[in-house]
Amino acid sequence: MMSMKLIGSIWLVMAMATVAQADNAAVLDTTGQALQSGVDYYIKPAITDNGGRFTLIDRNNSCPLYVGQENTSGPEGFPVIFAPFEEGETVVREGRDQKITFSASTTCVQSTTWKLGEKQAETQRRLIVTGSDEVESPRGATSNYFKINKQADFDGIYYLQWCPTEVCPICKFICGNVGALVENDKRLLALDGSVLPVVFERA
Ligand SMILES: *[C@@H]1O[C@H](CO)[C@@H](O)[C@H](O)[C@H]1NC(C)=O
Ligand SMILES: *[C@@H]1O[C@H](CO)[C@@H](O)[C@H](O)[C@H]1NC(C)=O
Repeated sequence: MMSMKLIGSIWLVMAMATVAQADNAAVLDTTGQALQSGVDYYIKPAITDNGGRFTLIDRNNSCPLYVGQENTSGPEGFPVIFAPFEEGETVVREGRDQKITFSASTTCVQSTTWKLGEKQAETQRRLIVTGSDEVESPRGATSNYFKINKQADFDGIYYLQWCPTEVCPICKFICGNVGALVENDKRLLALDGSVLPVVFERA
């Protein structure tokens, strides 16, 4: 029989986990509203002259499509929806893991969910591609989860990170922040370089 002390400890751990979640501030959109799961948002650079909205990029006339940016700021680009890892969570919070999926249909068989991809040969930076992580493991589909972190000292400005420690707390990841990488005049997103500060605009 489980001792009352053990049950008490489990309760305490669960209570602390709940508090920790509630402590994470909501990510805010360009109007100061909390980002909701399942709602369309455009992601775009916080500073002008850093390319346009996030979009799907055909890197080399083939599938899968990569995650990148429009060349210039404007109305083009696809919105994304966020799906928090935490079951039942409806608010997108800072420092938490979520899947990010473009609201777009393509001719590729792969899903439009963001996924950590291969290294770009020239720079050795890790690209962000689209597709579902099919790996069935206890740690889950870690390559499909990204965090949104606040850019220090700037309200409403964030950067994206791949570091799925919520999906797998015991895993050791080589975490990386998301920035831009220009390849053949196309703006791709990649880890392991300078960070691209972004804002979220409700579609
Ligand atoms: C694009 O595809 C062609 C044909 O498959 C290949 O020769 C070329 O190296 C590819 N370029 C890049 C940048 O991947
Ligand atoms: C950006 O410009 C390059 C070169 O003209 C082009 O190949 C690419 O498709 C453009 N990207 C987008 C997202 O339109």
